[in-house]
Amino acid sequence: MGYDANFRIWRGDIEGGELQDFTVNVNEGEVVLDIIHRLQATQTPDLAVRWNCKAGKCGSCSAEVNGRPKLLCMTRMSTFTEADVITVTPLRTFPVIRDLVTDVSFNYQKAREIPSFTPPPGLKAGEYRMKQVDVERSQEFRKCIECFLCQDTCHVVRDHEENKEQFAGPRYLMRIAELDMHPLDVAERRDSAQAEHGLGLCNITKCCSEVCPEHIKITDNALIPMKERVVDRKYDPLVWLGNKLFRR
Ligand code: SF4
Ligand code: F3S
Ligand code: FES
Repeated sequence: MGYDANFRIWRGDIEGGELQDFTVNVNEGEVVLDIIHRLQATQTPDLAVRWNCKAGKCGSCSAEVNGRPKLLCMTRMSTFTEADVITVTPLRTFPVIRDLVTDVSFNYQKAREIPSFTPPPGLKAGEYRMKQVDVERSQEFRKCIECFLCQDTCHVVRDHEENKEQFAGPRYLMRIAELDMHPLDVAERRDSAQAEHGLGLCNITKCCSEVCPEHIKITDNALIPMKERVVDRKYDPLVWLGNKLFRR
């Protein structure tokens, strides 16, 4: 059975904007993105929204529903009552382009700042050999669809524009952890995670893990182990002695 739902949608651009109210028909089994598409088709043809797969796999339709970071295509209308007012706003941490579309280039910049996979010298592509047990740990992180919901929700940058330069965010700290756990990667990851990518700013609030649509345990399986590796390195007596001897 269909019903009329009350929606508040943020409309505007980088100059400013406002929440606008709409009443839109909802049918059984629909998700928030269906309603946004119906709005476009019937009332606001110029409403900007980014989407692609409508299956929770491309990571494009990220926005905030009632203030919570969500994929619009995976947020079922059945999670609301018919009386609810459903507010849809753009991701707060990134600059708005128009309506529900934000400029997420911060994330691409952070991705570029992490040196790529570095195999041992002399080992050519095609000669990599790893056992399943060696890759299991980081395999979970490869499920990431780059929706940036974790980046949006992390308080280190959400309300602190000034931290953006020094903080890679949970998604990219997880990338560093993934490379550090890679059995064939030989690049230095631990000192730079702390000094260049802001690992120390993460105070393990776990909000990133809570919003991840792929249910990746970002904090428990990537960030905390990475922090432990950094500490091990710093306090390992052999590393300490090496630093003393060779950095004089
Ligand atoms: Fe999205 Fe999860 Fe990847 Fe973060 S880790 S970008 S929340 S899929
Ligand atoms: Fe931010 Fe996640 Fe750490 S939300 S503070 S990166 S645990
Ligand atoms: Fe692809 Fe929502 S449209 S994740």
